[in-house]
Amino acid sequence: MAILKIARMGHPVLRQVARDVPDPTLPEVLNLVGDMIETLDDIGGAGLAAPQVHRSVRLVMFQVPPGRGHEEVPLTILCNPVIEPVGDAIEWGWEGCLSVPGLRGLVPRPASVRYRGQGLDGAMIDRTVSGFHARVVQHECDHLDGILYPQRMPDLTRLVFETEMRHQAPLEVPEPTESEEQDQ
Ligand code: NI
Repeated sequence: MAILKIARMGHPVLRQVARDVPDPTLPEVLNLVGDMIETLDDIGGAGLAAPQVHRSVRLVMFQVPPGRGHEEVPLTILCNPVIEPVGDAIEWGWEGCLSVPGLRGLVPRPASVRYRGQGLDGAMIDRTVSGFHARVVQHECDHLDGILYPQRMPDLTRLVFETEMRHQAPLEVPEPTESEEQDQ
């Protein structure tokens, strides 16, 4: 196993649409996952997508340990994930990314999603989730389509350095615009 180098915003691998994992049970996939787990453990983070370690394949992992102020999410490894929103509710939350070090941004996302994907045994994982779990899986899967969270931000005044977070009101969420209100 090895700790892998993280690609940072600006590297082309983060803008590519990643290719499918042909067979999640292949030893090379297991090797990549082992290295990604070690990398994630070393850096400390909620999730990691293969393009962030310079491997342009549709593989993500995420985990929310207990005691972080969010509902616990067991370590989940997904190959070829598909996500769909459940309902129309949008939630705003602060996000960070190992590929955008030092920054945090306030990002609107569907509050609930259903996601499906293959685990390492090839079996389908199918979950409907909300809250932080929903946010993490959407953030990670965006990496597979070459999208970083700042691209999801309608208001870049809410992209701030972590060291300036103390200046942000914790629940300072933009008011919906008239057109958004009409949509609901
Ligand atoms: Ni990220």
